[in-house]
Amino acid sequence: MKCVDDFRLRLGQREVVPVIIGGMGVDISTAELALEAARLGGIGHISDAMLPTVTDRRYKTKFVSDKQKQYKLNIKQVDKSIVQFDLGQVAEATRLHVSKTMEAKRGEGMIFVNCMEKLTMNAPRETLRVRLNGALDAGIEGITLSAGLHLGSFEMMKDNPRFRDAKLGIIVSSLRALILFLRKTARLERLPDFVVVEGPLAGGHLGFGMDWAQYDLHTIVAEIIAYLKAEHLTIPVIAAGGIFTGTDAVDFLEKGCAGVQVATRFTVAAECGIPEKVQQEYYRATEEQMEVNTTSPTGYPMRMISTSPSIGAGVRPNCEAYGYLLDGNGGCAYIDAYNRVLAENPEAKKLSVMDKTCLCTHMRNYDCWTCGQYTYRLKDTTHRNADGTYQILSAEHIFHDYQYSKDNQIALPQLK
Ligand SMILES: Cc1cc2nc3c(=O)[nH]c(=O)nc-3n(C[C@H](O)[C@H](O)[C@H](O)COP(=O)(O)O)c2cc1C
Repeated sequence: MKCVDDFRLRLGQREVVPVIIGGMGVDISTAELALEAARLGGIGHISDAMLPTVTDRRYKTKFVSDKQKQYKLNIKQVDKSIVQFDLGQVAEATRLHVSKTMEAKRGEGMIFVNCMEKLTMNAPRETLRVRLNGALDAGIEGITLSAGLHLGSFEMMKDNPRFRDAKLGIIVSSLRALILFLRKTARLERLPDFVVVEGPLAGGHLGFGMDWAQYDLHTIVAEIIAYLKAEHLTIPVIAAGGIFTGTDAVDFLEKGCAGVQVATRFTVAAECGIPEKVQQEYYRATEEQMEVNTTSPTGYPMRMISTSPSIGAGVRPNCEAYGYLLDGNGGCAYIDAYNRVLAENPEAKKLSVMDKTCLCTHMRNYDCWTCGQYTYRLKDTTHRNADGTYQILSAEHIFHDYQYSKDNQIALPQLK
């Protein structure tokens, strides 16, 4: 019987352990977590979601308060169209986070950044261009394009000196999305270096509608591998979503995948950005509490624990400070939902907005507990402490469990 360590993921001249820790915004897949993946010979992601906010916390910049001060007079206005990001600050935040992470890198593995198209920041094209090129300029080894079709993203990077040397890939949830991307980028004569195929059991936003349960990762992966073969395209395929054990991973590797992307198991790692109190909620969660809902203003369904404080919260839209989901016209589905509830309850001291959530505020505060479908199994991966809490794991322990385990076994950590 094989284990993941019997396989290697080849990306150009590089060869790594075929385990990729997926990007998890906002600073859930921290630099510390990504660095561990790279040290252990795999690939780790940092996320570029809300980076000006993240660098304030990490590197003591003042981007959020500067922006809030600049747009202070707009806080009570319904129209948020004037609230713009300073592109120089976005570039600086990207440069800071990426270069600090790369400077700390040790080992044979690689560090990539996850870049979400749906982070429209009230100027979708301009801000995405700055984020992508900023990451390349700061030395990132690869970029994973996510949360969107990214039909213009390669074009935005084509003049960057690193366009052909960095590893650039995309996350898709269907063959159709991949074909669209390949057609759109054909002119640039640069294929993606890898394709992550993400199924319906993943965490974060889903690339499916509310009929997600009708889809199955194995089927989509098989379709994509068959298509690439028929077209004589050699692009490594990475499977993602619901791969919980090393044996699950081997199953995909034996079926022709070049690697796996995993995330949920690492949400309870000490190096993960989720505060320990919230990690205990992940451990305690039950299967019944795994919920896919439409509260994200992005329009994509999102999986979360049903007890997430973000659900039903009614905070005032915080776009002057954040505003990462404002579309190019200053709109956001949460602003509409909030204003509707406010108009219905003009005297209320506290509002409850059920249909949408202020994702910026709640992701920033770790109050939106997004998770993969198998979060309810995390309690089986550790020991329970005498006080009823669960033991937090090291990223190394989880990574090695994926790399070496066989026969559906999950190695428990050393008792603390
Ligand atoms: C807490 C959490 C946050 C996530 N955030 C993002 C994100 O910001 N961008 C993204 O492309 N994928 C995100 N994902 C998806 C993962 O990168 C990964 O592809 C997927 O969850 C793998 O499935 P698994 O969690 O079942 O292992 C997130 C997943 C989790 C669990």
